[in-house]
This record gives sequence, C-alpha cells and structure tokens, in this order.
Amino acid sequence: MKRVILITGTPSVGKTTIAQILASLLNAKYINLTELAEKEQLTRGKDKKRNTLIIKEAKMRQKLEQIITQTTANDIIVDGHYAAAVTPTTLTGFVFVLRRNPKQLRELMQKRGFNQSKQDENIAAEILDVCLIEALRTQPKERVCELDVTGKSTDEVIKEILFVLEGKNKCSTGIVDWLGSLEREGKLHEYLRI
Ligand SMILES: Nc1ncnc2c1ncn2[C@@H]1O[C@H](COP(=O)(O)OP(=O)(O)OP(=O)(O)O)[C@@H](O)[C@H]1O
Ligand SMILES: [Mg+2]
Repeated sequence: MKRVILITGTPSVGKTTIAQILASLLNAKYINLTELAEKEQLTRGKDKKRNTLIIKEAKMRQKLEQIITQTTANDIIVDGHYAAAVTPTTLTGFVFVLRRNPKQLRELMQKRGFNQSKQDENIAAEILDVCLIEALRTQPKERVCELDVTGKSTDEVIKEILFVLEGKNKCSTGIVDWLGSLEREGKLHEYLRI
C-alpha cells in the first residue's frame, strides 16, 4: 500500500526544505506542485492583482493521481501550499500543515526578498489559518497533523514527522493561535494588514 504524505503551509513556512529531507530519508518520490504546474502547464494565466499563477485544479488532480498510481516508490511526498485541495482523499495518508509564528515568517520572507504586498498576504493567510482550514475542509480530520516549526531546526521538525509516521504520536490540530497571541500583545494591526 502506497503512502502519500502531503506537506502544506503558507508560502515560505519551510515546506520544500522539510519535504526534500523527508523524501531522501524515506526514499520517497518527491512532487513539488509549483514545479509540476510549470512542467505540465497546469496554469491558466496570471492573477494580476496577486501576481500569482492560476492553477487548473481539476487537471492537476488528474495528473497527481496518475503520477501517484504509476510510481514504483512506496512513499510519495507532495509539497505545496494547495496540496490538500488537489490530492484526491482516496490517496492521502498524512497531511502535515507546517505553522510558523508570523514574526519569523516575515523575517524569512524579507530574506527572500518578497515585496510588501506578498508579505502581507502570506502573513494574513498564516494568521487566519488558511492552509489548515483548507486541509480540514478537503481531507479527513484524523489525517491532518499541524506542526509548529517556529524556532525549530529541520532535524527537530523531521523527528516530529517521523514520530507521527511511525505511529508514536497522534496527529492534532488547533495547536497555534497567532490571532489571539498577537491580539494579546497589541500587535495584531501591525501584522494583519489586508
Ligand atoms: N527549520 C528552518 N529553520 C530556519 N529556516 C528555515 C527552516 N526551514 C526553512 N527555512 C528557510 O526558510 C525559507 C523558506 O523555506 P522553503 O523554501 O523551504 O519554504 P516553502 O514553504 O517551500 O516556500 P514556498 O511556498 O515559497 O515554496 C528558506 O530560506 C529556508 O532556508
Ligand atoms: Mg517550496
């Protein structure tokens, strides 16, 4: 039985870093949705206001199903912030939603040279739990594992994921509350700018 592991979370949270290490540890097939969309031309133009490509979701779902079915690897890792929405639930085993404190997320995006509106958009998505909500809307709740990666090394994050995969830890959600903590610090307006 193949095991499909989704790694999702707000852009810049650290998905690709973690997903690639995990893929090499498990000898898994690694699928990066941004690269797949480009390679297979699964986009239909640009959302000009947000400066992002629009994904052909149905086509991407089909393509993913095909790749997952055809690969000889036992484990498949799907890396992307919309992974939960485009991977058929009949195939998914685990959905890891990486979370990062908005302050740290902003620092990472600044380092990557994201412009202000991209930073604001992604920080709002992180504060408002957008990826988590999408994972819970599209996938069975018991498969959704939220992980707070704030201040953690990649080794620590990988260890937590392996614990879940090995059945030593149960998945849980509702572990962070950025909205509440920023509000208590009086910093919500500084971060939530939409
Ligand atoms: N555990 C970590 N600790 C510190 N920095 C990290 C960690 N994981 C990733 N980073 C850094 O954060 C930045 C974003 O990481 P990465 O590219 O993995 O994010 P991503 O979620 O895949 O982003 P995107 O959605 O744009 O593909 C990179 O500069 C990376 O080096
Ligand atoms: Mg990435």
